[in-house]
Amino acid sequence: MNATTPAAGDTASLIDLGHRYFLPVYRQRELVLERGQGARLWDSEGREYVDFGAGIAVCGLGHNDPDLHAALVEQAGKLWHTSNIFFSEPPLRLAEELVGASRFAERVFFCNSGAEANEAAIKLVRKWATAQGRPPQQRVIVTFRGSFHGRTLAAVTATAQPKYQEGYEPLPGGFRYVDFNDIVQLETAMAAGDVAAVMLEPVQGEGGVMPAASGFLKQVRALCDRHGALLVLDEIQAGMGRTGTLFAHWQDDVVPDIVTLAKALGGGFPIGAMLAGAKVADAMGFGAHGTTFGGNPLAAAVARVALRKLASPQIAANVSRQSQALREGLAAIGEEFGVFAQVRGRGLMLGAVLKPGYAGRAGEILDLAAHEGLLLLQAGPDVLRLVPALNITSEDVAEGLKRLRAAIAAFVAPR
Ligand SMILES: Cc1ncc(COP(=O)(O)O)c(C=O)c1O
Repeated sequence: MNATTPAAGDTASLIDLGHRYFLPVYRQRELVLERGQGARLWDSEGREYVDFGAGIAVCGLGHNDPDLHAALVEQAGKLWHTSNIFFSEPPLRLAEELVGASRFAERVFFCNSGAEANEAAIKLVRKWATAQGRPPQQRVIVTFRGSFHGRTLAAVTATAQPKYQEGYEPLPGGFRYVDFNDIVQLETAMAAGDVAAVMLEPVQGEGGVMPAASGFLKQVRALCDRHGALLVLDEIQAGMGRTGTLFAHWQDDVVPDIVTLAKALGGGFPIGAMLAGAKVADAMGFGAHGTTFGGNPLAAAVARVALRKLASPQIAANVSRQSQALREGLAAIGEEFGVFAQVRGRGLMLGAVLKPGYAGRAGEILDLAAHEGLLLLQAGPDVLRLVPALNITSEDVAEGLKRLRAAIAAFVAPR
């Protein structure tokens, strides 16, 4: 314990502040995180954790990456904010670099979060459809059950999961839902010719770490082309190298019209982006959309470095190596204790699905894992979600798996 570490009583009183003053929309674990390095974190009592969550799939380069740190500090000494009525160099450079890296986009809109990026995408679809002369009832956006697109009213309406929508009615109109990976349902949903866009995650994250079936995105693209609709990909969680390629949809061999990014784009500093391809790049003109903070110089300076590092072959190689190690480790734990029905996902976006006998109990495992010094996430009540830093070391993966094994042993032990 060093000189700045508060005594145990301080931790309890800090947590009490959260219970007293935060809007109680989260259920935090009873610990206060204080500092991080790579894929390890330390709490206010000096306890160390292996981090298999990276925030919620945000810190793609782990905690306190020296290059991100240097970019932030350097920019902090120059300029923090200009508003979008003036130019500054970091977002200009980042826009050029993202367009170049994307292989499809012509323009970028910067914002601060995933929900805002999707909100911009939804608005862009509607403006584009309007410019095509389509009346409002022919500007429908189709999304998929199990999806998650964020918490603003339009994004939560795109999110085809009732639990996120209940109580917020009336919701914006013009959305239609179909089952994920069901091309026949999508074909039926588009048959009337009133669909302006289909929007989906290449790997559903919050919905249970569920990848699009092989060939599904290509079939969706073909239907969009046949019906004059746009293909919008939400890569907020799956993008930025997480699935093994900088953009997840590269593995599906499709060209989208719009892609949204956030989470790992800023390496932990908030930034979102909507990338617009040729069909839609000029659909929004002066005054059509805006934001005070989007693309601020601090976020953009950090994101430039994050993008450069996350796009590197070294990261892709590490994602593939550690993905295999995690899959093997999860398979071994699953076999030893009989808890997992399936391990699924792509790259370092993995889900371990609990067997029906343990359904609904992922949260208990997360508590036990934290007790063993491992921070894990869930994706719904039945799936453990592993989304560590993309530069996580073999040693941290091995140590995390050791702690997960101990947590699962405690979970299945008779009480
Ligand atoms: C696929 C996807 N889209 C959108 C969002 C919303 O992002 P944010 O929480 O930054 O608004 C998330 C967040 O989990 C996400 O996983």
